[in-house]
Amino acid sequence: MTGKTHIKIQGKRILSELNDLKRTTEAAASELGFTEEFTLGVIEGTKTEREIMDFIWAMGERYPIDPYDLIIPKNDTQMGVKIMRRKESELSKRIFNRKNKDGEKTPYYEYRDTAMSRTAPFKPEWIKELRVVSDNNPENPDVAYNNGHFMHQMTFFLGPANFYYDIYGKKFCQEMNTGDSNYITPFFPHSFTSRSKDEEALIIAVTFGGEVRRAQKEIYSLKSPLENFKFDFRNHNKAISDLVLQHMESERLSFNNLSSILKENNSKINLLKILDQNSEKSIDELKELALYLNIGLRDLLIPGYREDEDIIIKRHSKEESFIYPNNKSPLYKINTLVRTERLSEMKGFDIEVLTNSLKEPSSKNLHSYFYNYGNSLAGFSWWDNGGVFHDELNSGDSLYLNPRIKHAFYNKEKDNAKIIELSIPGALNLQTQIELSAFSNIERVAYETKEWFN
Ligand SMILES: [Fe+2]
Repeated sequence: MTGKTHIKIQGKRILSELNDLKRTTEAAASELGFTEEFTLGVIEGTKTEREIMDFIWAMGERYPIDPYDLIIPKNDTQMGVKIMRRKESELSKRIFNRKNKDGEKTPYYEYRDTAMSRTAPFKPEWIKELRVVSDNNPENPDVAYNNGHFMHQMTFFLGPANFYYDIYGKKFCQEMNTGDSNYITPFFPHSFTSRSKDEEALIIAVTFGGEVRRAQKEIYSLKSPLENFKFDFRNHNKAISDLVLQHMESERLSFNNLSSILKENNSKINLLKILDQNSEKSIDELKELALYLNIGLRDLLIPGYREDEDIIIKRHSKEESFIYPNNKSPLYKINTLVRTERLSEMKGFDIEVLTNSLKEPSSKNLHSYFYNYGNSLAGFSWWDNGGVFHDELNSGDSLYLNPRIKHAFYNKEKDNAKIIELSIPGALNLQTQIELSAFSNIERVAYETKEWFN
């Protein structure tokens, strides 16, 4: 955002929308009842925040647009980084009671916020398990399951915590330990307890929204039931058949229309078989079919359903660790946390820092969250617009990092620092990148500079 204040960015977003609506400054000023000079001031970012908001509401009244979509959240990071100190996390603590086996409400969890930014889709919490159990019985009446939630969850375990989950009415319990992790699909009920009165059992529960979260506004205004938009994920062959049907509907092709096209092209594809929800479709068949539907092969692919992916448990394994980038000049010892094909860009790591000096920064296309769960201080450096910035991440501190920012961790004490990382894509995900890559001007996407003509 260097050189571009929030108010200037806000003005450019308004210009971008006026371009979409095919309104010049002059036309918008006259339709909205402002002077041309005022309208120009809004676009140039020389008006006050209040005046800009007045203009946005006027646009919302006059044009068929969502005025809230014009408001750009204020960036709360420092050059793409936001750190939350252990002390601040402690101050945010909330203890929530839940029923025990006798029906009395007693302390169940202590929640603390960790690093969150309004520019990121994470809501990561530090959660201490306060209910102590003496078994791993999933039906233990002292265990209070929640109702599940809208956000995806990846959890990192610290200490002797039990993890409970309910899959369509059948309950399970897993004994978890430091370094283990899990993934919980939205709305599956779950719970956590401690197995020890003396040892602390904690989880770092990173909840986050994906594409469905980003579509939430549109979903809330849908007239057709959401059920009509869902694939039968648990029946893969049927899901593919339904997807082919959906593309046929979009192309306004009936069964007869598409059959004729296949015949004209001497295709060997049997459309009846493709639409048979019990028959398996080969990649070759789908690739050819895609041609006649004016789409790509990727538009006909849905990940296969695996029952064991609704809730996934990943145990820490010493043998699985690898040294990044190589054994000669090791920076990090990395253990991969839970993975799922359904969210192929959700990347969690347990990182032990091996270097004492700042070298070889790296970056990624994802939003990243870090939490120092060890006892040692880590140095943290990042690069922005050619400048390099330095800070520290102490035990219990957490950090949010914007995508594509070069960064590096290094030890500041004798013992190695231990850090959890979780990265996820934002709206600028792979699909968006592909669309964006074809544009003839990238600069004007992030900061509209001109009217569509003149
Ligand atoms: Fe949860």
